[in-house]
Amino acid sequence: MTEMKNLLGIIGSPRKMGNCELMVKEIAAAIPGSPKLSMVRLAEKDIRPCKACYRCLTGDCPHQDDFPVVLRAIMEADAVVVAAPAYLRGTHSSLQRFLDRGLQAYRHVDSLYGKPAVAVATAGVRDGEGSALLGVENFIRQLGLSLKGRAVVHATFPGDAIVFEEGRSTALLLAAALVSPEDYVPEGVSCPECKGTYFEFRGRTAMYCLSCGGTGTFSVINGKARLEIDPPAHSWRKKEDMALHGKWLIGQRGEFLRQRERLKEAVKPYLGGEFI
Ligand SMILES: Cc1cc2nc3c(=O)[nH]c(=O)nc-3n(C[C@H](O)[C@H](O)[C@H](O)COP(=O)(O)O)c2cc1C
Repeated sequence: MTEMKNLLGIIGSPRKMGNCELMVKEIAAAIPGSPKLSMVRLAEKDIRPCKACYRCLTGDCPHQDDFPVVLRAIMEADAVVVAAPAYLRGTHSSLQRFLDRGLQAYRHVDSLYGKPAVAVATAGVRDGEGSALLGVENFIRQLGLSLKGRAVVHATFPGDAIVFEEGRSTALLLAAALVSPEDYVPEGVSCPECKGTYFEFRGRTAMYCLSCGGTGTFSVINGKARLEIDPPAHSWRKKEDMALHGKWLIGQRGEFLRQRERLKEAVKPYLGGEFI
């Protein structure tokens, strides 16, 4: 069992004392050794949209807002619980708003990579979660954290998450997963490359893994599902790949600066237009 002193709960809901906050607290309470729980309500934070300037790869981000405080909290935590509600069958935007600024994480791979994390998506409608959990998992994976467990919790009214047995038992399972030294392997079919469980069917048998970008095929042999996935040509899933991807991005920025004048010329005919 991994010893855990500082736990960070990231709440991707605008609701105070809503189901996400309750799940974070319930999971924290079930962790042996009572780690210190700090929480952040992402929706309350001043996190401005990425300007796509790529300056953060080599220097400071031009925004002066709450992003660095939250990133630092993730870096300093021993483990992280991320919970966000389903909104219109997607993940609450506060998570993506933070993640959009995540190129800054490439300068902190050593403090982030492999840190245990669990994902929770709350959903008011049974089977209404859509891609909400995928968004929470993507938040964890893209920051280089190690996904140790994941769950959708059905909870319609604020409080349902802990009023019903489903949420309480899920919290126990996720707390155990978070401290387990074992790697997380989801039940059923998962990507052999990254253990992701979200795929796009491309044609009859071709598959694309939404979690790592691997492609391959799906077949059923003797009644058993078989998934063969090759790693993507350009991956940033492993620690060394993540560091290399950061360097590659810096190279791309240089390449863009070299091509800038030519591109400016090419887009000239498209200048202007009416905007509301
Ligand atoms: C704007 C809005 C959109 C929602 N969309 C969905 C949805 O698409 N599917 C779903 O199952 N629940 C949906 N819900 C319900 C919430 O996901 C659910 O109540 C959740 O438990 C809220 O968590 P919270 O209390 O932490 O905010 C929506 C709620 C709101 C306010």
